[in-house]
Amino acid sequence: MLHRASMTTTRSLETPLTRAVGIEVPLLCGAMYPCSNPELIAAVSDAGGMGIVQPISMSFVHGHELREGLRLIARMTNKPIGFNAIVEKSSKVYEDRMRRWVDIALEEGVRFFVTALGNPRWVVEKVHAVGGTVYHDVTSRKWAERALEGGVDGFIAVNARAGGHAGDQTPEKLLEELAPLGKPVVCAGGVGDERAFTRMLALGYAGVQMGTRFIATEECRAHADYKDAIVRAHADQVVLTEKISGVPVAVIETSYVKAVGTKAGWLSKRLLRHPKGKHWMRTFYTMRSVWQLKRASLEGSGYQQYFQAGKSVDGIERVEPAGDVVRRFADAARQMDALAAE
Ligand SMILES: Cc1cc2nc3c(=O)[nH]c(=O)nc-3n(C[C@H](O)[C@H](O)[C@H](O)COP(=O)(O)O)c2cc1C
Repeated sequence: MLHRASMTTTRSLETPLTRAVGIEVPLLCGAMYPCSNPELIAAVSDAGGMGIVQPISMSFVHGHELREGLRLIARMTNKPIGFNAIVEKSSKVYEDRMRRWVDIALEEGVRFFVTALGNPRWVVEKVHAVGGTVYHDVTSRKWAERALEGGVDGFIAVNARAGGHAGDQTPEKLLEELAPLGKPVVCAGGVGDERAFTRMLALGYAGVQMGTRFIATEECRAHADYKDAIVRAHADQVVLTEKISGVPVAVIETSYVKAVGTKAGWLSKRLLRHPKGKHWMRTFYTMRSVWQLKRASLEGSGYQQYFQAGKSVDGIERVEPAGDVVRRFADAARQMDALAAE
């Protein structure tokens, strides 16, 4: 049974997410390595949604040391922003750095955190101590229950249509699984236009997190070839490739992707299963993918055409200012409310 938003009180823009984090439109610009740049984050927040900082994208791709980057955003908008903390325990160096980054984000006033992959408890403890909010990325009820044990306040439900590392369920099925846990659920994946946005709110989602739609904006610093590829692509041209990081990532099926294929080689597969080779192989893939994705995003078709995108490409018809996207989506939700009230 889905939890329908009240159609008579005309309040689809006011949800547990907007109330908790103090924003006007329940629309997040999800963290994106390598596409989250300060100007994009600021533009989404300034228009009433919320941009989420991806710390590795901020420093390694866009050249801002984290604190300086957060202050740059604060000069562009005084509205709230969020922070993406990937909490997997892959290496001590990475974990220590993430702890320092979370401290810096808190010191600079960030109060909304999106955790992913590992146990979010240590982030929750730090963030709750200053009255902030933590949502965790999940693809199924099993991961949501674990995150709940870690004390999270809500979920980002990553479905099969998402860009980046996609889930494997439809938005409807995932909400049905997660709603009984009693926490707000944000839809991530497949939303590229305002119709899909209002549909997800009407279904009972507390908000929507979009990635791909916000790459095709004026403020995003991705190469024009990448943005054009998003505008031109159809959902059936978005495929999963293991070639970049060893685990499936959603990309547009460019001629380059067709030529190199989408499956990891047999040696990589064997090493990824091998007890000792596993760690080395993951490290190798991570380092290589960080470089490949950075170059693909900034250099466009001149480099390997790895353009990460979700099935949401279907709703994206042009490159436009990020604030216009937020305002158009908000207007559509207001119209839906007005129609329902008639
Ligand atoms: C290029 C790209 C990079 C992404 N990188 C991250 C990331 O670093 N961390 C994260 O939690 N999610 C990441 N995501 C997922 C997005 O935050 C968001 O959940 C997803 O894009 C939603 O699906 P959509 O692209 O169909 O809108 C990425 C998505 C894309 C398209």
